[in-house]
Amino acid sequence: MTQTTTHQLDTRAIPIFAERIAQWQKVHGRHGLPWQGSRDPYRIWLAEIMLQQTQVSTVMGYYERFLQRFPDLNCLANAQQDEVMPYWAGLGYYARARNLHRCAQRIVSDYGGRFPQTQSQLQTLPGIGPSTAAAIAAFAFGQRVSILDGNVKRVLARFAGVFAPTQRGATERMLWDLAQQLVEAAPPSLDMTAYTQGLMDLGALVCTRHRTLCTDCPLQTHCYAHQAQCVDQLPAPNPRRAYPTRRRHMLIWVGEQQQLLLQQRPDKGIWGGLLALPEFSSQAALRDFYRPQLATLEGPRPALRPLPSLLHRFTHFALDIRPWLLHTPRLCPAALTLPSAENFVWVPTDSLSEQALPAPIQRLLGQLAEHL
Ligand code: ADE
Repeated sequence: MTQTTTHQLDTRAIPIFAERIAQWQKVHGRHGLPWQGSRDPYRIWLAEIMLQQTQVSTVMGYYERFLQRFPDLNCLANAQQDEVMPYWAGLGYYARARNLHRCAQRIVSDYGGRFPQTQSQLQTLPGIGPSTAAAIAAFAFGQRVSILDGNVKRVLARFAGVFAPTQRGATERMLWDLAQQLVEAAPPSLDMTAYTQGLMDLGALVCTRHRTLCTDCPLQTHCYAHQAQCVDQLPAPNPRRAYPTRRRHMLIWVGEQQQLLLQQRPDKGIWGGLLALPEFSSQAALRDFYRPQLATLEGPRPALRPLPSLLHRFTHFALDIRPWLLHTPRLCPAALTLPSAENFVWVPTDSLSEQALPAPIQRLLGQLAEHL
């Protein structure tokens, strides 16, 4: 069968879609989340950025801590990026934090500190894609624009019988058009907050990837996939991309007075702007790094010990982390001459919980005391 980007939707279902979801949300959706019940675009924007690729339960604690430290847009815009990163450490996808900070500065410089209100303006700002822009425009300003994140694509693919893979450009454009049509066909009284939250809640709680709860769905009688009994087949799988694994050797060097060597990562790339362990593509490169530094050390050469390896999955690749422990309790870090351009810092091991470390490095170092 040739795949098309059209859908099978009965047009009579279009005008009822949004209102049904909004009504359902008011009774069965999620309420009382910390970013709900407010129209403050700053709070809404922060939540939407944190919730990109991250679950509600993970975001909750980070959200409150972040708001306590940076209660408004000006406060965030005036901070240094280094002050922001510790409040994101462990949440992953660190480009989000750097863009958040840049975005705050742009809103101050280009919009006098007031958020623009339309999806098209919002999506020109750093870190705000079309769906996040629509969520902010709908939640904060009541604009009649639709979101279209991964969950909503799944809901629409089932509801409308879209058989083409949803990541394909033409399918995506068709889904955006359909999503917007579903808002525009709704009565003018549509509550955009309830509708937008309802779309998210339906995708998260009912129209889930597996084990869907169609009997709880307000749209089951109009849903193509439910009627055609093909819920499990939609959305069609997107073609798989190669998923490579990169091996990296990481040095855990503990010197005098339990000082640990860390390195601030460049802004671009994984863990950008965070502190992490010095990293090498081979064991030989790792040895070449620390051995010359031990020349002045008397007595037997300290042993390099392998610690259990760790696999950390990113979206597009996995990191096979090989940690190596070098314990030199008689070596004073101040006496070493590490290349200054490479942003090395020595920090006490008992201060690690306060450092902006990526989650897997935090986990790895959490077990350090057992090995010293
Ligand atoms: N995911 C993205 N935005 C969300 C929100 N506002 N509530 C719950 N989950 C979300």
